[in-house]
Amino acid sequence: MKITVIGAGNVGSTIAERIVDQELANEVVLVDVIEGMPQGKGLDMSASAPIQGSDTKVIGTNSYEPTENSDITFITAGIARKPGMSRDDLQTTNAKIIKSCTEQAVKVSPNTIIIVVSNPLDVMTYVALKTSGFERNRVIGMAGILDSSRFRKFISTELNVSVEDISTFVLGSHGDTMVPLPRYSTVAGIPLPELMDQETIDRLVQRTRDGGIEIVNLLKTGSAYYAPSASAVQMVEAIVKDKKRILPCAVFLQGEYAIQDTVLGVPIKLGKKGMEEIIQIKLNPDEQAELNKSAADVKANMNKIII
Ligand code: NAI
Ligand code: 2OP
Repeated sequence: MKITVIGAGNVGSTIAERIVDQELANEVVLVDVIEGMPQGKGLDMSASAPIQGSDTKVIGTNSYEPTENSDITFITAGIARKPGMSRDDLQTTNAKIIKSCTEQAVKVSPNTIIIVVSNPLDVMTYVALKTSGFERNRVIGMAGILDSSRFRKFISTELNVSVEDISTFVLGSHGDTMVPLPRYSTVAGIPLPELMDQETIDRLVQRTRDGGIEIVNLLKTGSAYYAPSASAVQMVEAIVKDKKRILPCAVFLQGEYAIQDTVLGVPIKLGKKGMEEIIQIKLNPDEQAELNKSAADVKANMNKIII
């Protein structure tokens, strides 16, 4: 198992670090445009491997030759948000970066599974899909796991119960029109609306939608990376171990959830072939309307992109 991580910034390097610590690959290749930086981080991480008891090799590079025949390729390259910026403000700059990284990566790894992290997530996943020419099961965006995890943590804090007993469901775009679904979110199997009043649910849902910007406003110079990298590595584990996990990820919808030709977050079955199935659940009219709004928002941004 060889994993390439393009973009050795905060998210990319913590993804690599977690893969090494959990020994989820034989080799991790960190790629960045900054000279010396991925090499330095790679060397430093390599020296942590003996302490972790991990034989995963890490190398850093500014070129794509060392990434040849990667099984999984992460795209985390690009710029991150600063206070006052929305994810969509990143779109024009990051679309060019994602296109260039995808072209170079797939040239040497035509069978790779691409996992996109760069924002705006849904649109950048579409850019990678179109640029690679891959079938949709091999180009997947990471966001829903992060958004669901934030929702889980907020519920856990509110109710003072273990995160382990909480399961949440978040659909839609990784943006302001994200669709957390309280009806399908449970604590030890009990649906959330039976445990909290509507006002509390609304507050936690809004905090989940604003989860990214809350951290941007605190950090001031960048965005979150601990929870994003943990989310990304949960996807790696599902693929590497062919676990068939059901996880919320962004994929290109072709009629599922009555949405056509748009990348959006939905529950998928994730295994060694990438996205192996899109899981469809019944939505009530209000939930479907929210998802349609989210899809329209992504589609409008997708239409602004020239690939
Ligand atoms: P960062 O600024 O720490 O790292 C980005 C790295 O990309 C930098 O090291 C930069 O040199 C590199 N880079 C730029 N152009 C490149 C190119 N053409 N080829 C290779 N590398 C290139 O940013 P951070 O915090 O790591 O975030 C990365 C991206 O991930 C941002 O777009 C951010 O918004 C997004 N993000 C998405 C999340 C999600 O849930 N989908 C969660 C967290 C971040
Ligand atoms: C987040 O949600 C920045 O999209 C990233 O933290």
